[in-house]
Amino acid sequence: MMRRALLIGCNWGLVHLGAYRQAGIDVVGLLGRHEEPVARIARQQGIPHALTRVEEIAELAPDLVSLATPAVSHGDWLNRLSDYPVICEKPLLGLTGSPADLAERTQPVWVNYAFAFLDSARLLAQILPTLGPVQRVSLACHYRLPLTFTPAQWWLEVASHPLSFLAHRLGEPRLAAVHSPYALSATLGGVPAELYCGPAAAPGSLSAVGAAHPGRPAAASPATTGPVRPGAMSR
Ligand SMILES: NC(=O)c1ccc[n+]([C@@H]2O[C@H](COP(=O)([O-])OP(=O)(O)OC[C@H]3O[C@@H](n4cnc5c(N)ncnc54)[C@H](OP(=O)(O)O)[C@@H]3O)[C@@H](O)[C@H]2O)c1
Repeated sequence: MMRRALLIGCNWGLVHLGAYRQAGIDVVGLLGRHEEPVARIARQQGIPHALTRVEEIAELAPDLVSLATPAVSHGDWLNRLSDYPVICEKPLLGLTGSPADLAERTQPVWVNYAFAFLDSARLLAQILPTLGPVQRVSLACHYRLPLTFTPAQWWLEVASHPLSFLAHRLGEPRLAAVHSPYALSATLGGVPAELYCGPAAAPGSLSAVGAAHPGRPAAASPATTGPVRPGAMSR
């Protein structure tokens, strides 16, 4: 039985706090890089211990650790946390990691993709089996957030949410062609898919209906939806 959790990462990681408490699990510690902010945030959130060193984790004997640091650090952290089950924020290993980064782990890792818990995604999951075989997927993700990611990072930060949902329903994604940094052709469990992930047009602009992004295949336009087209969502 999981009773004690520890959080690593003081920003998005705090989202896990409410979920643990709702599930009756005590959050016994918060770990970050710098003493002052970690101590302050732990105090504000009613978390009894503020930590800055991995060696301090064992003293708190957590049953489960939430890892919510930037993706580039996940591989290192997962190896350091090899004795604990981990809920790791997406994207699991980011752009630079490889599955070999997990080689030393013996405990399970679960990756948090929130899309499947949206009401719209639940509805989609419910009606999908009633529609017959899926013939084609068209996924369009539009982002407008004050963050400076490369197009590749945006795929991981934004499109990975609905892609994870689709992959669980239809099967493993395989890349077929790269049309531009924003548009890909792929298959999902063998089903052809046109995938788009690019900046949202300014409000009121014509490109809001799909005209302004070079390299986007017509099938990914919001106007030509396939049977499955989850919309954009937050990180
Ligand atoms: N599921 C979702 O919808 C969703 C939404 C947003 C984010 N996320 C994911 O959550 C993760 C964290 O995102 P974020 O926006 O919270 O990131 P962030 O603000 O850049 O960093 C989160 C925390 O990690 C600390 N940190 C940075 N590098 C570290 C390292 N090497 N070791 C230990 N701590 C380190 C930061 O400390 P400093 O303040 O000292 O830098 C900060 O407290 C990412 O994987 C992101 O993709 C998921």
